[in-house]
Amino acid sequence: MVFQAIAAASLHARQPLKEDYPLPDTLLRGAYLSFSAQPSNLTADPAALGTGVNYLSDAIISITQGVIDQVQSADAFVESGGSLAQCTDLRGSLLLPGFIDTHIHYPQMDIIAGYGTQLLDWLERYAFPAEIAYADLDYARAQAEVFMQTLFRHGTTTALTFTTVHKHTTDALLESAERHGARMIAGKVLMNRNAPDGLRDSGDGIAESAELIERWHNRGRTQYAVTPRFAITCTDDQMRAAGELLTEYPGTYLHTHLAEHPDEITATLELFPAAHDYVDVYDQFNMLTPRSVFAHGIHLSPRELDRLAETGAGIAFCPTSNLFLGSGLLNLDRLRDHNVTLSVGSDVGGGTSFSMLTTIAEGYKVSQLNNQTWHPMTALHAITRGNAEALGLGAKIGQISAGFEADITVLKPRPGSMLERRLANGATLTEQIFAAMFMGGDDAIEQTWVAGKKVFDRAQQDTSS
Ligand code: GUN
Ligand code: ZN
Repeated sequence: MVFQAIAAASLHARQPLKEDYPLPDTLLRGAYLSFSAQPSNLTADPAALGTGVNYLSDAIISITQGVIDQVQSADAFVESGGSLAQCTDLRGSLLLPGFIDTHIHYPQMDIIAGYGTQLLDWLERYAFPAEIAYADLDYARAQAEVFMQTLFRHGTTTALTFTTVHKHTTDALLESAERHGARMIAGKVLMNRNAPDGLRDSGDGIAESAELIERWHNRGRTQYAVTPRFAITCTDDQMRAAGELLTEYPGTYLHTHLAEHPDEITATLELFPAAHDYVDVYDQFNMLTPRSVFAHGIHLSPRELDRLAETGAGIAFCPTSNLFLGSGLLNLDRLRDHNVTLSVGSDVGGGTSFSMLTTIAEGYKVSQLNNQTWHPMTALHAITRGNAEALGLGAKIGQISAGFEADITVLKPRPGSMLERRLANGATLTEQIFAAMFMGGDDAIEQTWVAGKKVFDRAQQDTSS
């Protein structure tokens, strides 16, 4: 049986159910893996999973009103009077915290794999024309729904996402997230220069952002990110006003791009001659905060890394995009040495896969090219608890543990897939995770649960198509 019982179970004490707590409405049974800390002491020994890694080969996860209230072994569940017949039986699968993507563009999903260019030309040739089409509200709404379903099909339950310059695309996306109960962070793109007609802020983009913040920030599970596309497409005035929004609305995120491609860096420094460097461009406008997510950050000086670390601002590593657009190889060890917060994003559609498993597999290849290594458990931690922490949501999502929102991704190879063959060949838990990274993609995802509700089930999709 795959995804089961190979590594020794490590039992972690859980809070007992409160006496006045309502009865669980959902009980899931299966192997589970989650991280309570950045994994350390990792060794090749499958019985020694390392510190921070929580694994049970046969667990019961109790969920009440969208929140996990207890995780225990099936034996303990039975001993305390629980009935296994009431559990949704997912034995043979591996339950993981829902994947989190800290950088993606919802309007770019249909332009994945645009041939032949690097960043600035790619934007002109593929991204901008695709985004112009979102001026149509009906189209934006239909695409938002497909986007959400596509995230779920790949096991992603939370994303920090770009929309377009049109105010209604943020509404469309967050309405869809809200319908599904998904935790989602988005923001209207700010862009008032160096972009084609139909894709620049025609009205007051800042006032529109403020209106969207009022409507969406901390409404249920939705949150808002102030989203200047990047410095090249925003005037000084717009950048300044965007920075001011962060102070006016504390708790909002800042989401943008940074030091992705050498040509972009040259163009940026020409537009902002007073800045010391690229990080300073954003710093001058007070955009460096612990809730700031800068996509890419590949080509940064030690001073820039130190400044990010000092302010708590983070970098979203987007390896499929960086390789696809030829942008460069992010040096993970260097980021760690400078104490810069790291998260991981798909960057669809510069990135080439919605799958966060595929994303960390490409991240592993990047680390190989840098003569470094990225342990599978560390990489899996990055797209679950690590990304949650980077978004300041580490107490709410990213773990399968009591008190956490019940976003769960269920891994099981698609019958007949190469991943199934590979796992049948026998492997430790770490090796299984590694194989799922490289051979999994959406073939690895059996179900996705959001706030305790099933939002994707491969079995149902396969019979309906
Ligand atoms: N920099 C500015 N806009 C974009 C975008 O849409 N994708 C990527 N990868 N980089 C950007
Ligand atoms: Zn991007």
